[in-house]
Amino acid sequence: MDFKLDLLPEEKRNYNCLSELETLSFGQLRSDHMFVAEYEDGEWKNARIVPYQNFSIAPGAMVLHYGQALFEGAKAFQRDGELYTWRFDKNAERLNESARILCMPEIPVDFQIEALNRLLDIERNWCPKVEESSLYIRPFMFATQDSLGVHPSSKYIYCIMLSPSGPYYAGGFSNTVTLLVTEKFHRATPGGTGAAKACGNYAASLRAQEFAKSKNCAQVLYLDTTNTYLEEVGAMNHFHIMKDGSIIIPEFTDTILKSITSQSVLELFPNARQERIKIADFLEQIENGEIIEAGGFGTAAVITPVGKYVTDDGKEYVVGDGEIGKHTRAIYEKYVSMQRGDIEAPEGWLV
Ligand code: COI
Repeated sequence: MDFKLDLLPEEKRNYNCLSELETLSFGQLRSDHMFVAEYEDGEWKNARIVPYQNFSIAPGAMVLHYGQALFEGAKAFQRDGELYTWRFDKNAERLNESARILCMPEIPVDFQIEALNRLLDIERNWCPKVEESSLYIRPFMFATQDSLGVHPSSKYIYCIMLSPSGPYYAGGFSNTVTLLVTEKFHRATPGGTGAAKACGNYAASLRAQEFAKSKNCAQVLYLDTTNTYLEEVGAMNHFHIMKDGSIIIPEFTDTILKSITSQSVLELFPNARQERIKIADFLEQIENGEIIEAGGFGTAAVITPVGKYVTDDGKEYVVGDGEIGKHTRAIYEKYVSMQRGDIEAPEGWLV
């Protein structure tokens, strides 16, 4: 496919706002340009890289009424003046999985990769060099047909925007977070859209997240709809570590988003495995010291240690000594060292 380029002149580009010292917040800054393509008459067309700007869509655009929209999250890192993407092919495949679940058109993986690479080539100066920072990549797709009937849209926009970002949780890896274990809210139901990166899943999580905050917790650890099994955290997957050092990740079901970080950990660490985890057993094993560390895996969240869980009755379960444990630290260090290119990653992961 041909890509049209409409670029800002050098002197109007704004990347000099990036400080070499300052820790960036997550997702606030934008780079100068974005990639856009449109889907109409059964094909993707009008691929272009343009200055970051507003879209013009009809008030009747279906995304505004029925929420047919999805997104992805990936990262690029800077090393010796070059940019490297981390497993973006997995994001592109997952975008297509989400598209199938949401009755949206797929986008050929090669096309997604080429679009990103062309954009990154132009935006290479936007990659922050500060520790724990990266150029966060946000691809997304939404329905633009002007129609009030409830059916899959015939028109879509696909866009990739970039956000030079610091850690998702303020303080980055130096802090543990507290999670609320609640039976009051659920993220996804069997047969629903929980395995898709559907924008609606995140809209539906806001009420639960606000409730968690009111209990001084960072987020909710979601349970399945029978309140038997633990599932995921919404902005990240969940993991815990047993006394023997094994890393346990909940088995992927159709109510859990398949985190690329989780999948990478499963491939990198022979002592990592997936299980269906009963919440009652999980809490008991924290109390009796069988579980010694816990946390979350996600692109934005990377590896986020959890120090404590709070249940609906206000009971607190402190994991180990509540601080970052040595196994979690070792996973984090190996993972980010690969992303930064300090140690070799499996072939094709850092491109
Ligand atoms: C990511 O990890 O990239 C995500 O998309 C999660 C988002 C809620 C920040």
